[in-house]
Amino acid sequence: MKNIVITGGAGFIGSHVVRLFVNKYPDYRIINLDKLTYAGNLANLKDIEDKPNYKFVKMDICDFEAFYQLMQEEHIDGIIHLAAESHVDRSIKDPFTFARTNVMGTLSLLQAAKLYWESLPEGYEGKRFYHISTDEVYGSLELNDELFTEQTPYSPHSPYSASKASSDHFVRAFHDTYGMPTIVTNCSNNYGPYQFPEKLIPLFINNIRHRKPLPVYGKGENVRDWLYVEDHARAIDLIFHKGKVAETYNIGGFNEWKNIDLIKVMIKTVDRILGNAEGHSLDLITYVTDRPGHDARYAIDSTKLQRELGWEPSLQFEEGIEKTVRWYLDNEAWLDNVTSGDYQRYYDEMYTGR
Ligand code: NAD
Ligand code: TYD
Repeated sequence: MKNIVITGGAGFIGSHVVRLFVNKYPDYRIINLDKLTYAGNLANLKDIEDKPNYKFVKMDICDFEAFYQLMQEEHIDGIIHLAAESHVDRSIKDPFTFARTNVMGTLSLLQAAKLYWESLPEGYEGKRFYHISTDEVYGSLELNDELFTEQTPYSPHSPYSASKASSDHFVRAFHDTYGMPTIVTNCSNNYGPYQFPEKLIPLFINNIRHRKPLPVYGKGENVRDWLYVEDHARAIDLIFHKGKVAETYNIGGFNEWKNIDLIKVMIKTVDRILGNAEGHSLDLITYVTDRPGHDARYAIDSTKLQRELGWEPSLQFEEGIEKTVRWYLDNEAWLDNVTSGDYQRYYDEMYTGR
């Protein structure tokens, strides 16, 4: 596989995957396909944009004709699909956009890939369609429940997770019906550099920096399982090359945190780095109305990936959060840029009345 499309490569996780592939595989041609929504930012890829094995194409994944043409022109043999609407709160406000991009967009890519690959003499030989999904499709756990495994039945609750579940089913259906070589992975919450500051960790770092309130949903007792984004990118590389067709792999670092405990670690880290007294920013914590349908707990069992492909997370959480906080504080221009204009209006509207 040499000609690879990475969709959503201008987003948070996608930019780490693009960077890894462009630097690690000089012989591959890496095409970053992205519509550049509010969440897509080419500044995330400044360091690799001039590399000869990298190309950016601005395209909507729902544009079937354009994608089919790109497959033909670029002789695409691998697709790593990350483009999506990814924020649960936005999906609650605007579920249509999530169905359009996450469901119809994924189906459009699948259908174009099918038509192109089936037209080749070698057919699906050496081809791969890899869909990056989330653990949120499995639903919500109670504190004493077992972790999500690859056998856990799907039970999505938010419009976001419902759209991702639907797209996962379409991907598997293309394997089962047409024999397309597909893989799906379901990963836990990612954190690290270049994440759009609407998600918990970068939002709170940014708000602490501006001494703005930290809106904690409900009692702050919901639990998430956090993985450093570069560890996810390494898993994607490994699975794309070594994973078994038609399989599902869970990706996670066995790293569960109650939101309020994580928030206190963030506050402590930011205050220390900024030279504030310990506890200085604790007064910013503001309990607000809970997110509707807020899943209580996500926790992923990634034993299969560790056992079969030897993947392990490389960073301890304390180290990862330190790196992350430092990155945002060292890249204030990036934060200021992405939090201006439309985003600011969205944010103000989002929290009015909470
Ligand atoms: P993100 O919101 O940061 O980036 C999404 C990217 O997709 C952006 O660059 C955006 O411009 C692009 N995009 C959106 N709609 C598009 C369209 N119609 N056509 C082309 N491009 C479009 O998202 P992320 O956090 O990097 O997540 C990437 C993928 O990983 C998503 O599929 C998400 O469901 C999945 N995932 C995310 C997490 C997480 O914690 N962030 C965890 C597990 C799985
Ligand atoms: P988020 O980063 O949106 O990821 P997800 O909902 O996909 O897990 O949220 C992580 C957790 O933090 C989740 O339990 C919701 C909570 N949260 C807040 O309490 N306040 C906030 O402002 C945000 C964005 C999230």
